[in-house]
Amino acid sequence: MQAINIGILGLGTVGSGVLRLLRDHQKKISSITGRQLVVKKVVVHDIEKKRNLDLSGITVTDDVNELINDQDIQIVVEVMGTVKLAKDYIERLLRAGKHIITANKDLIATHGSELAELAGENHCDLFYEASVAGGIPILRTIVSSFAADRIIEVKGIVNGTTNYILTQMNQNNLPFEAALKSAQQLGFAEADPTNDVEGIDAAYKMIILTQFAFGMNVTLDDIKITGIRGIDLKDIKQAAELGYKIKLVGIAKLIDKRISVSVGPVLIPADQPLAAVQNENNAVLVTGAAVGETMFYGPGAGELPTANSVLSDIIAVTKDIVMKTTGSRFNEFSQEGQSAREQD
Ligand code: NAP
Ligand code: HSE
Repeated sequence: MQAINIGILGLGTVGSGVLRLLRDHQKKISSITGRQLVVKKVVVHDIEKKRNLDLSGITVTDDVNELINDQDIQIVVEVMGTVKLAKDYIERLLRAGKHIITANKDLIATHGSELAELAGENHCDLFYEASVAGGIPILRTIVSSFAADRIIEVKGIVNGTTNYILTQMNQNNLPFEAALKSAQQLGFAEADPTNDVEGIDAAYKMIILTQFAFGMNVTLDDIKITGIRGIDLKDIKQAAELGYKIKLVGIAKLIDKRISVSVGPVLIPADQPLAAVQNENNAVLVTGAAVGETMFYGPGAGELPTANSVLSDIIAVTKDIVMKTTGSRFNEFSQEGQSAREQD
């Protein structure tokens, strides 16, 4: 079977998960794509760092040029984070003809349109399913399953760290700082958790959701954003006594053909579905004029759930590559494909 070589930029929480899932499900993925996916090179910040990963056969480097100049690498996964540096790397990778997959919501929310244009000019894919709601396949769902509907509202819990903190404060009486530390140790928080707790990470995700659901570009300046730093154990207890839970909720809705987007703590009656979303889980409610209200629920952060979304993009890009190079789709429903799945 022909191989497709992949480069990974960043080998922290998400990058490690991508490597693990690719190795664990190699056979099944090949049966779906018709190609063997091989991680050839990984770029990290500190090449001396001890990593609890099998890196045999993979070149580990701190020089991004090794990805950019490698003609054999067709797909690059950016799971490094930051805006300026990641943008510079991705632009150079796109100009070198690499397809890009990223989990970087900060980058996509602020520079997504220009990067998409550059990707188009270079005939490359730019996919970012993992950038919103971690393991929930919400972007592809909005694109494909709401294509024949008119979306009126998208709202939900789209930050795992703050939902984890609020849950731990509510259930275990854990003070804010201790709950945040725990979220960091579990790999849910950003390298600098300021954006999580201040509601900015959720706002970035609402910018991307707004683009997908309404085709409208908004910026952080258009969004009223309140974080959860001001919430203490007393507030959570008082809310519980009155039959409510406090949740950080993002809302994007159409009002007279204009879009209103906000992020902030909301009191939710304890018997409503959003109130039942605990720890790092997320939930996105999409309301369509035809379908009515729908809800998508799942892990919003963490190694394997996020990696699974990245893998879904890798598979989609690989199918595109196969289609472009052979002129036909690999038949994943063939006998060969099915028996490989059984053996995985
Ligand atoms: P992380 O654990 O902090 O890992 C970052 C990785 O990038 C590390 O391997 C680091 O190298 C590498 N890196 C940092 N600066 C670099 C540089 N200048 N050059 C080369 N490599 C560099 O981050 P993460 O949690 O995996 O998140 C990665 C991205 O995914 C972020 O954009 C984040 O917002 C997004 N995301 C994360 C989650 C989640 O649950 N964690 C979920 C969805 C999306 P070293 O290992 O050598 O330090
Ligand atoms: N820090 C983010 C969160 C990671 O907690 O939701 C997933 O995007």
